Amino acid sequence: MRYIGNKENILDKIYSILIEHGVTGNSFFDFFSGTTNVARFYKKLGYKIYCSDVMYMSYCLQKAYIENGEEPSFRNLLPHINVDSAKLFALPLELVLEYLDTIPDVKGFIFNNYTPDGTKELSQPRMYFSNENGMRIDAIRQQIELWHKDNLINDSEYYVLLACLIETISFYANVAGVYAAFHKKWDPRAVKKLSMRPIEIIPNVTENLVHYGNSLDIVGQYDVDILYLDPPYNERQYLPNYHLVETIAAYDSPEIRGVTGMRGYENKKSTFCNSKTALRDLDFVAKTAKYKYLVLSYNTEGIMPQSEIMTTLSKYGEVALEEFQYLRFKSNNNGLAKTKKHVNEQLYILKRNEH
Ligand SMILES: C[S@@+](CC[C@H](N)C(=O)[O-])C[C@H]1O[C@@H](n2cnc3c(N)ncnc32)[C@H](O)[C@@H]1O
Repeated sequence: MRYIGNKENILDKIYSILIEHGVTGNSFFDFFSGTTNVARFYKKLGYKIYCSDVMYMSYCLQKAYIENGEEPSFRNLLPHINVDSAKLFALPLELVLEYLDTIPDVKGFIFNNYTPDGTKELSQPRMYFSNENGMRIDAIRQQIELWHKDNLINDSEYYVLLACLIETISFYANVAGVYAAFHKKWDPRAVKKLSMRPIEIIPNVTENLVHYGNSLDIVGQYDVDILYLDPPYNERQYLPNYHLVETIAAYDSPEIRGVTGMRGYENKKSTFCNSKTALRDLDFVAKTAKYKYLVLSYNTEGIMPQSEIMTTLSKYGEVALEEFQYLRFKSNNNGLAKTKKHVNEQLYILKRNEH
């Protein structure tokens, strides 16, 4: 998934640097989990995972990829649905996704607010999804909710389906990576008919714990070997950039406004998007959390100055700083143009003093 600060392409690099510094153990806390890519990587290595994020869309991904460890069987649901799969050995998840692709369209909250026909009375009709895909998303999202309410799917199956929907929509959204704006012409991929994609199911070797909300609220609750911090690095809050994914995940018909149909986000503002409060809270986390190693992913363009990060972290132990170049996707001009840009990724590695 395209997500600002997604570490998918540099996981191996991060891992090899951490190994060089002897940063290993059995438990890993992905404190700003986002897409869960880092948590997934460490889960596959057999670590016990803790993760958290203030975005509900991230929580759905955490439930499906991190907490869940079983291929969903859809035992209760399958006898109730009719799937005529062409695949010989289709997994239950594939069968259910195939079925979801065939249910009738619905004109619901997404069609009514984010497609051109649904918003034709606006001076600038919204073009986030084609009319057809808007109706597909409403139909699928409502069906998942109904199955869950009727106890035809359990919690894990519910979140696996939501994660599949979250991952799928990014292939059909008429945006340049973020949802802060939509294209005024159709991107060819946005006019293809939406078809649900399965997510990878990662087996559990141990129980993993996930959390939805401000991670600062759970600082100190878990004692971990590696505490991994990947906070926002500039003033841009995450919710405005992913408001529509959040709304599809929560499907809570929020009040929306403006050209983009943005939901409110007062309770989802990150203190890491302001340099003063970011340093204050970095200090709070480094001081209060329980860990052997604290690893901070940041970059040279971040709003917390390097010298101040070093001063803050050094209060709690020995700090090493590693830097490497990375070609990063950058969306600018309100998301309408995209450029590639070299940035210097940084890893601050704090080995905590014995105390
Ligand atoms: C740089 S992204 C993390 C990217 C992630 N490592 C990945 O690979 O996808 C930062 C994340 O921090 C979350 N966030 C910011 N402040 C937060 C807070 N106080 N508590 C929980 N999550 C927060 C944002 O919602 C966003 O998902």
